[in-house]
Amino acid sequence: MAYSIAIDGPAGAGKSTIAKAVSQRLKFVYIDTGAMYRTIGLFAVRRGIAPDDEAAVVSVLDEADVTIGYLDGKQQVYLNGENVSDLIRTPAAGDAASKVSAIPAVRVKMVELQQKLAEKENVVMDGRDIGTVVLPNATLKIFLTASAETRAMRRYLELCAKGQEVTFEEILADQLERDERDMNRAASPLKQADDAILLDSSEMGIDEVCDAIVSMFEDVIR
Ligand code: DC
Repeated sequence: MAYSIAIDGPAGAGKSTIAKAVSQRLKFVYIDTGAMYRTIGLFAVRRGIAPDDEAAVVSVLDEADVTIGYLDGKQQVYLNGENVSDLIRTPAAGDAASKVSAIPAVRVKMVELQQKLAEKENVVMDGRDIGTVVLPNATLKIFLTASAETRAMRRYLELCAKGQEVTFEEILADQLERDERDMNRAASPLKQADDAILLDSSEMGIDEVCDAIVSMFEDVIR
């Protein structure tokens, strides 16, 4: 049976940075599930559909083929064969993702894909419902969080480094709205699994968080 590490938490908690680092240390495959919801968000927007129009999104969902691949060890996401990995990294795509991810049919499709990916390989998977729904039997479950300001500042710096023109206030407001929606939706809301370990990374560096997770994993499998 393959090992799996589930990392859930709110937007900007550092999940992807940490999950990537842990996967490199353990030589596991990293799976970024947010990228999949972002791709469906992009698909809806391209079709001229409001991402929160459930009936309209569901009516075209079969036409969205989302697949995952790896280039130089980095996860790539494809929408009907087109590599959209960079296009989905905007605040607008994050907002669309948060809206389409509240639609149960979208979640069913994405969860199926995620479970298939984790069947044969050792994985580190990050998202909102990995420990609660996608991998309920994960070897280790982490709920990674940080203060709202810390998270917004990290996202802000990340987007600035990519040359995007954004303000801190805009990122913080966006994030609060997204957290609110992700935590309060009916379908698989963001919440800590009963058996997940809470890690607050506000005052911790990347290496420190990564070391903590690797050592917890080693303890579990020992
Ligand atoms: O992690 P992220 O910012 O790329 O995720 C984008 C949105 O997708 C987020 O607002 C909530 C949703 N999401 C989800 O509902 N379930 C997941 N497993 C991953 C992301």
